[in-house]
Amino acid sequence: MSKRVFVSGASKGIGLAVAHRFLAEGFDVAVNASTEASLEQVRLTYPQFKVYRADMSQKSEVEELAKWLNQDFGPLDVLVNNVGRFLPGSVHSESDEAFEMMMHTNVFSNYYLTKRVLPAMMERQSGTIFNLCSIASIMAYANGGAYSISKHALLGFSKVLREEMKPHGIRVVSVLPGATLTASWEGVDLPAERFMPAEDIASIIWDTYKLSSRTVVEEILLRPMLGDI
Ligand SMILES: NC(=O)c1ccc[n+]([C@@H]2O[C@H](COP(=O)([O-])OP(=O)(O)OC[C@H]3O[C@@H](n4cnc5c(N)ncnc54)[C@H](OP(=O)(O)O)[C@@H]3O)[C@@H](O)[C@H]2O)c1
Repeated sequence: MSKRVFVSGASKGIGLAVAHRFLAEGFDVAVNASTEASLEQVRLTYPQFKVYRADMSQKSEVEELAKWLNQDFGPLDVLVNNVGRFLPGSVHSESDEAFEMMMHTNVFSNYYLTKRVLPAMMERQSGTIFNLCSIASIMAYANGGAYSISKHALLGFSKVLREEMKPHGIRVVSVLPGATLTASWEGVDLPAERFMPAEDIASIIWDTYKLSSRTVVEEILLRPMLGDI
């Protein structure tokens, strides 16, 4: 029987590259996004994917997504907590709503979903969870604002989960990429060569997954060749 992976926020960008890679490696793949329009495109390109519309900034929609995963898709071998949104800003001037949106989308979403799919992994004493953190999880920078705060929190979540899951045979991996060429960077006037390709993030996630269950790569830090942008 094929193994199962769920990748959140995977209609494009890093999430889609990861989903594509696991499909190529023979996995059953499920993905979600918040809009029907972006999922429609995924259905056309990847008819093999199971897709679900859920706005993960809303707790009730994460709960429905978790039910669908547990009941219709089946217990996960791999969970990739990829969903995230980036709005530049500064604490002194950004809106409370921007802060709340990023905390809900980048942190609460992953906390709520992970909790709800963990029991099936714990029962089987196996599973791998990847959390898409960021260089912004370990560095404060100008215009990072609420995004950087949310990514620091996500790394905290990931470290806590790693400790908790040690006796349960579940590997927890924090992935911290720097600038990666995706729609998040739309409008930025820099050559594509200045960014990492999303496929490289997918490759390192796959290579990490493939190691024996006796080994956990706890953190993966990746930067563009010329450094941060
Ligand atoms: N790109 C980078 O340079 C970079 C660097 C470090 C870390 N990261 C992290 O890597 C992850 C992926 O980034 P990316 O650049 O690939 O993003 P992206 O290209 O903007 O894609 C984001 C994906 O998430 C979905 N999404 C957004 N909000 C959602 C919500 N509330 N509920 C469900 N789905 C939602 C989007 O689809 P819909 O719009 O249809 O919802 C889309 O499929 C994020 O966590 C990001 O913070 C990115």
